[in-house]
Amino acid sequence: MFIVVGVTGGIAAYKTVQLVRFLVTDGHDVHVIPTADAVRFVGITTWEAISRNPVTTSVHEDVAEVRHVALGRRADLVIVAPATAHTLASMAAGLAGDLLGTTLLATSAPVVVAPAMHTEMWQHPATTANVETLRRRGVHIVGPADGPLTGGDSGPGRMTEPEQIAAAALAVVSAGGDLAGVRVAVSTGGTREPIDPVRYIGNRSSGRQGAEMALAAADRGASVRLIAAHVDEGALGAASVHPRIEITRVGTASELAAAMREAAADADAVVMVAAVADYRVAEVADRKLSKEDGPLQTLALVQNDDILAGLVAGRSPGQTVVGFAAETPADDADLLERGRRKRRRKGVDLLVVNEVGWSAGFESTDNRIIVVGDDDQVVAEASGTKREVADAVWDAVLAVRGAPD
Ligand code: CTP
Repeated sequence: MFIVVGVTGGIAAYKTVQLVRFLVTDGHDVHVIPTADAVRFVGITTWEAISRNPVTTSVHEDVAEVRHVALGRRADLVIVAPATAHTLASMAAGLAGDLLGTTLLATSAPVVVAPAMHTEMWQHPATTANVETLRRRGVHIVGPADGPLTGGDSGPGRMTEPEQIAAAALAVVSAGGDLAGVRVAVSTGGTREPIDPVRYIGNRSSGRQGAEMALAAADRGASVRLIAAHVDEGALGAASVHPRIEITRVGTASELAAAMREAAADADAVVMVAAVADYRVAEVADRKLSKEDGPLQTLALVQNDDILAGLVAGRSPGQTVVGFAAETPADDADLLERGRRKRRRKGVDLLVVNEVGWSAGFESTDNRIIVVGDDDQVVAEASGTKREVADAVWDAVLAVRGAPD
């Protein structure tokens, strides 16, 4: 593949050397375009040695070959890493003041951008608006990650690691899967209902199965909105950097409901994997409850709305709605019976049922499911890794969507 790597003026440029190395080792023809600022961090000699191709920052070299547009036209993929706040602004405005700018305007290849900057700059409304503009134009934004920054501070703004940028960028190009062009909304994790500023009612959901649902869909070409309630450390895995997955973090059931309603509005498939608290505390205390205030005898609860039922009621024509149910059945027949009852009660197209218990289901990387469809039929059964299970569910979704009305 002919890959252009744009490098702009941030200290993370030294990590891009490794990115270029990966791509070259992977067999790609890599052409590096550093900006004038970038070569203050890593020089042209390094880029030429690592990429094994000539490197220039100038639009005035190789004019006979129309170099200012030639690279962009030939590219199968353009990666910009690191992308500074200034670069994001230039890209959003369509500026063509240097070789990277002209290349970006001349290309019709997918563009993957890995921003890197201090947290304040990343969170500035100007940067937020520029990123939004680029996303709308189809640019894939990878990261930034949350972590230590150059000034000794820490926060979102650190460039995503080179291996992950390479994986994300290559995934964009291989986006010809059986879910290409399909938009999906997936929820994951466990909601938390506050009792007071330090306590909550939660559940043991790790968020892994929902993350794998999102990742499987994105790897098969879908554009994914992943609404994540509380998840275990690291549970989002590769989903957190996949260029076709946009993650929204939420806390309570009502925040999850609002985010899912919004994400579902233009989705072709909606999958509720999240473990939603059925009840919330009627009156959340402003201050930490203390035994000094007297013993707490009861905690008054009110029922949360059924988000899935709401999504089914408000579904758009042709939209497929899938629910998940974690059950503690007496045996397999009971599991199926519970699944059938729940599917009817929720009105979903498919209900994915799995057994959980004190030791099964939650923290594990494996899962065993049955999928109940219309007419109470078992349309799929799968066991294996959560990714394998996710792929089986998407196969079932495709089968439902492909069926004649
Ligand atoms: N769900 C939801 N809103 C709720 C509760 C559950 O959208 N308030 C969704 C879950 O995300 C899941 C499905 O409904 O996709 C089944 O969840 P489950 O907790 O098994 O459903 P409940 O209706 O709470 O059933 P039960 O009374 O058995 O707990």
